[in-house]
Amino acid sequence: MAYFLGLDVSTTSSKALLIDHSGTVLGATSSPHTLSSPKPLWSEQDPAQWWQAVVQSIRSVILQTGIAASEIEAIGLTGQMHGLVLLDADGEVLRPAILWNDQRCQAQCDEIHQRVGKQRFIQISGNVALTGFTAPKILWVAENEPEIYTQARHVLLPKDYIRYKLTGEFAMDKADGSGTVLFDLKARDWSEELLKTLNIPREWMPPTYEGPEITGHVSESAAELTGLPQGVPVVAGGGDQAAGAVGVGPVEPGIIGLTVGTSGVIFASTPAPLIEPEGRLHAFCHAVPGLWHFMGVMLSAAGSLQWYRDTLAPEVSFDDLLREAETVPAGSEGLLFLPYLSGERTPHPDPLARGAFIGLTLRHTRGHMTRAVLEGVAFGLKDSFNLIRDAGLESVSQVRASGGGTKGALWRQILADVLESELVSVNTAEGGAFGAALLAGVGRGAWPDVVTACHETIQITGKTDPNPDNFEVYRHAYQVYRELYPLLKQTFTQLI
Ligand code: XUL
Repeated sequence: MAYFLGLDVSTTSSKALLIDHSGTVLGATSSPHTLSSPKPLWSEQDPAQWWQAVVQSIRSVILQTGIAASEIEAIGLTGQMHGLVLLDADGEVLRPAILWNDQRCQAQCDEIHQRVGKQRFIQISGNVALTGFTAPKILWVAENEPEIYTQARHVLLPKDYIRYKLTGEFAMDKADGSGTVLFDLKARDWSEELLKTLNIPREWMPPTYEGPEITGHVSESAAELTGLPQGVPVVAGGGDQAAGAVGVGPVEPGIIGLTVGTSGVIFASTPAPLIEPEGRLHAFCHAVPGLWHFMGVMLSAAGSLQWYRDTLAPEVSFDDLLREAETVPAGSEGLLFLPYLSGERTPHPDPLARGAFIGLTLRHTRGHMTRAVLEGVAFGLKDSFNLIRDAGLESVSQVRASGGGTKGALWRQILADVLESELVSVNTAEGGAFGAALLAGVGRGAWPDVVTACHETIQITGKTDPNPDNFEVYRHAYQVYRELYPLLKQTFTQLI
């Protein structure tokens, strides 16, 4: 037997997952990370902790599955996107990594738009500069920690630091590379113009590779620490969204991925480097060679329900709350919820956006409020869905739902009714780590390409049909929802 290992360096933990040649998951183990927020808006992690957690997870998954480590044929990497890891000339970490959910660098985003020209920046990178992305974080270090910046020689993303520890190589995949917003999106590589205009040395940026390409081999020292055999190839992999898409199946135009985790994501492959003219959608390279993708990211999706329950009904189970919501009619009798609890990215890139219940009356019960939360998140996802359609991808053939929030029938039905589209679920639940393992398999020739790997390993296990009886009420509620952010935008800035 031969196996492929997927490694996922997420914000909360590092996961190791083993699959065999048929794509069957043999086992998965996770080791936790801690997050530090030394100042308001900051979010940082120590890369050494990722490495310890990865070593621990690899050792545990080999032990748990009882396989012979010598039969692991290839490794694929994935992880949280956009986080800035700065290394010095000796490959030593210079400061804690600045993560994707760090909000400190709005001034540097404005500066990037001003220095490059906002339209030019969108044309080259496919995106606007957002606080979550990597480029403004590099400028922040240059301006606020010059003593660190002068020692910097290498820029990596979280999973690429793990690649460096495993193989000694500096390398990055195209999907995550484009998430730095320092890529020329069309060329699928670093933009000389952006790097030059922003004074970021070209030689700090590693070579970039397509998802299944081999980037290096496990070194002797990493083999000793992890129990992996020396010399196993490590493929490029992809950022968590692109690798997650490989793990669920939106790897060909027409199939849309819908994920309701803490955050909510609408993901669509594009056959060309399409751009939303105002940069309201993220436009990145896919982990599938030669494909790109659009993505709308909502920051608090299942995170909204989690907050709601923890804050207002901590003693009630999710199941009981959802049962109450089921008895309330579609549209929650005029109650709306804005899900901007941690600011928003798509379609309103605004760290100051806030959550709200609008339209409360004496008649509304807890069931109404719960249902309004589910509907508000669905409306937020519809915003991204519409942007993707308007940007040139009208022909949606299938929406694949994944993530904890799509497990319950009520939320799935609300999503299908609001999007007016059938939702299907699939047999794979391991997201990015599974996608990374598939990319490793493709890299070693177990499947001829990524799309074939997905067709052969991912099966449809269920579907939810939209209920046309609810279309009218949701169209009306969505229309009102759409009007609320522009009305409240100014008010939000005053809520200090
Ligand atoms: C994508 C994004 C998140 C992070 C963390 O743009 O910011 O998905 O990768 O998971």
